[in-house]
Amino acid sequence: MNLFIDTANIDEIREIYAWGVLSGCTTNPSIIAKSGRNFIEVIHEICEIVDGPVSAEVVAQDAEGMIREGRLLAQVHPNIVVKVPLLPAGLQACKVLSDEGTRVNMTLCFQPAQALLAGLAGATYISPFIGRVDDLGWDGGDLIRQIVEIYAQNDNIHTQVLAASIRHPIHLIDAALSGADVATVPYSVLKKIVKHPQTDAGNAGFLKDWSAVPQRDVAALATAWLAERGQSHGT
Ligand code: E4P
Repeated sequence: MNLFIDTANIDEIREIYAWGVLSGCTTNPSIIAKSGRNFIEVIHEICEIVDGPVSAEVVAQDAEGMIREGRLLAQVHPNIVVKVPLLPAGLQACKVLSDEGTRVNMTLCFQPAQALLAGLAGATYISPFIGRVDDLGWDGGDLIRQIVEIYAQNDNIHTQVLAASIRHPIHLIDAALSGADVATVPYSVLKKIVKHPQTDAGNAGFLKDWSAVPQRDVAALATAWLAERGQSHGT
């Protein structure tokens, strides 16, 4: 499974991208509005940082408008994936854009049959909103599992399942166990995942014990050891 970040905050993207775990980014109109920045400028800046798919959503509500916006957004950067809402007009736009070779992320998916339609319209990604499904009293994990199963049983569909609306670490685990191809995760959740009190406590314990070792400069020890054997190639 691949991991995307669900934000348009450049500082957040830079910080997490440096971890080496991200392969894409998703945004939506709410996220762009929150950034307070020019849509096209911020999307382009994200594409220059993230070496992978970056979803940019259309806001037109008719197919013609979605297609027009999608074609223009796709020209902003080769990394752009055009994000289209899962409406009748969105399906129409998805089919046209996909046939032209533009990658489309069909968003706001709440039930498996919608995902089937998106797959048949040629979407590159389907975005089931698992957090919002949970909010409705349904099981977002079940939604992922059913979409994965439907796609597996239909050779004519090549759409990737992109688990979205992830609110906490369990959602990410559920998406990974359910066979999602991608999960897009907010910065706050990624920070929670990487922070574990036992990891911090264990690390502190190792450092405390290590502080009693007389020769504890690891780089110096390794450099000397390698130099003695003529094996040093620098760092
Ligand atoms: C996905 O692409 C969406 O941008 C996002 O995951 C929506 O999440 P929310 O339900 O927390 O707004």
